[in-house]
Amino acid sequence: MKNSFEAVRFAYSAIEKRIPFRPKLALVLGSGLGGLAEEMTDTVSIGYAEIEGFPISTVAGHNGRFLFGRLGGVPIVCMQGRVHYYEGYGMDEVTLPIRLMAKMGVKTLFLTNAAGGIADRLSVGSLMLITDHISCFVPSPLRGANDDRFGPRFPDMSEVYSQKLQKNVKESAARLHIPLESGVYLQASGPQYETPAEIRMYRTLGADAVGMSTACEAIAARHAGLSVLAISLITNKAAGLSQTKLSHEEVTAASKEAAPRFRALVKETVREIAISD
Ligand code: HPA
Repeated sequence: MKNSFEAVRFAYSAIEKRIPFRPKLALVLGSGLGGLAEEMTDTVSIGYAEIEGFPISTVAGHNGRFLFGRLGGVPIVCMQGRVHYYEGYGMDEVTLPIRLMAKMGVKTLFLTNAAGGIADRLSVGSLMLITDHISCFVPSPLRGANDDRFGPRFPDMSEVYSQKLQKNVKESAARLHIPLESGVYLQASGPQYETPAEIRMYRTLGADAVGMSTACEAIAARHAGLSVLAISLITNKAAGLSQTKLSHEEVTAASKEAAPRFRALVKETVREIAISD
């Protein structure tokens, strides 16, 4: 097995010639949010399955490809579908796409996800700007020998989610009159949804929303020196906080419903980030 640095270099050399431009920003689309890619123009697509050794998503609703194109006029690379730790991949594999996009020259990473709402102020359809995360329930993507070519052994995590980028999102949301909450995201391992007791514990620990991705990607990105921004779409009240049982169908249906607002906010934010750069 290649070490992570070699794995990234290998994947990069496999697609280098097909990358049409140096993207300014990388966007990762979460469950049911892949349709946002329709907003992109002049797209070039590279399927994950076309890249030897690349982790492939096994979840319905995750298409699995890189799309290069313009969003609001800004040249970006978009991941339509991501792989999750619960699919059986190691954290180094789950975060390989993030490191690959860093290698493409991206400086900003914009993560999106579907999440369960823990804080009372969050309801189905709320958008939550992630201000910080709790990642200690899943292994670190930085575990193992450190490769200094990625980043330092002990990277600082006191500002994972850039204050400047958070300001860009808040201003974009205000301009579009889209309500935006903010809070702390906790990454659980999944794939099972949480128990009500786990949710009570997570609430006590300071989590506002829970999901099965994102924090590990943000850590790998910070390690590689990227600026990170993340937004959760609250697709359900977390376990025990409503009468409904949790299901993937409910999550997907809620993200479809909120998609127009979400798309508009992401597009406006990408434009705002590019202008304020
Ligand atoms: N828990 C974990 N992940 C999720 C949830 C949830 O309630 N909703 C969407 N993704």
